[in-house]
Amino acid sequence: MKLVSKLLLHLNISSSKMRPSFIEVDLNILQQNLMLIREHIDNRPVMAVLKSNAYGHGLVRVAHLYEQLGVNSLGVALPEEGIILRKSGISLPILVFGGILKEQIPELMEWDLEFFVLSFEMLNYTEKFCKTQNQFAKVHLKIDSGMGRIGVIAENSKSFIASALDSDHINIKGVCSHLACADDPEDPMTHEQIDRFLEAVSVFEKLGVNTPLRHIANSGGVLYFPQSHLDIVRPGIILFGVYPEPACRRILELKPALTLKSKVSFHKSIPPGFSISYGATWTSKNTSEISTIPLGYGDGYPRYLSNRGEVLINGKRRPIVGKVCMDQFMVNCKYENQKAGEEVIVIGEQCGQSITVEEIAKWAETIPYEILTNLNERLPRNYIN
Ligand SMILES: Cc1ncc(COP(=O)(O)O)c(C=O)c1O
Repeated sequence: MKLVSKLLLHLNISSSKMRPSFIEVDLNILQQNLMLIREHIDNRPVMAVLKSNAYGHGLVRVAHLYEQLGVNSLGVALPEEGIILRKSGISLPILVFGGILKEQIPELMEWDLEFFVLSFEMLNYTEKFCKTQNQFAKVHLKIDSGMGRIGVIAENSKSFIASALDSDHINIKGVCSHLACADDPEDPMTHEQIDRFLEAVSVFEKLGVNTPLRHIANSGGVLYFPQSHLDIVRPGIILFGVYPEPACRRILELKPALTLKSKVSFHKSIPPGFSISYGATWTSKNTSEISTIPLGYGDGYPRYLSNRGEVLINGKRRPIVGKVCMDQFMVNCKYENQKAGEEVIVIGEQCGQSITVEEIAKWAETIPYEILTNLNERLPRNYIN
């Protein structure tokens, strides 16, 4: 199939008004969450982290909202995400977080994307490339203060920073690190990381030059470690009203902005001894009312929730029975007959009851991040307020 027709097919699916399963994002809630976060950090600058389709909320629409709300910059994981934002007209600074390979640098420069410089080798290559092009790269020097993922380890940061300062085509916009354990306010590791990072960045002052933007705070840092806020914070998941871990202390009244809705597509009464779905892993003990929901792991709903998850119908929790299929799953409504077309809440509120992303993450034995970012493009996104 030609690329264009593939794209059209994709557009038709994700923008269809016909699909009974869809995501609703409340823009007003996003705005309120940002307001609460800003109050909590004494109105410091914010880099809104919109990796992985803005944690499932829809990259472009959410980015334009934040630009309107005056956030200072945006963070993404991939150059591709940054390019989509530039093509959509975003003019805010955009920082690409992911480990970048040399061959991606020309494209980052072409689209005016800032990026992490992770190593001496990358620093040298960027300098050489920019010299031949007579360009200046806008970079953030990445120090590994204990996350152990990417960046120059704190012990070597002095010569790294000095080399960056010596490079004629490197514009150092920031110096940063990433916290490994900040969702636990009691974990001493976060204090150690902050100390190590502050020691590393003190080199700028010692060398008598201006210190660029210092940043290290993810959502956990923003919530529980005021010492990590520094010059700009980088929250992701809390912008969307979701806490990093189901067990996190809820110190801000954040509200989830995303609702995952569907409708009963089919309903049947079954006799005792009737089995449901692939592998026949669930069999009715009594006469039961079973509704089918047109949503499945093909949309990013976890198959692990087979015989574990719940949804809301008529304000009541209905347990999933049998295996979650690619496009459908079944729930047990016990004695209550349902009609096709009845509203189903998979994530969100109905009649005062709610099912949260954190709760689903617990059932699925994962973290809320994975639940949100797995919700894929097949689900249309509708924006309200
Ligand atoms: C470098 C960096 N900063 C900030 C964030 C935001 O993290 P969180 O969603 O926990 O706020 C991430 C996401 O993992 C990240 O990779």
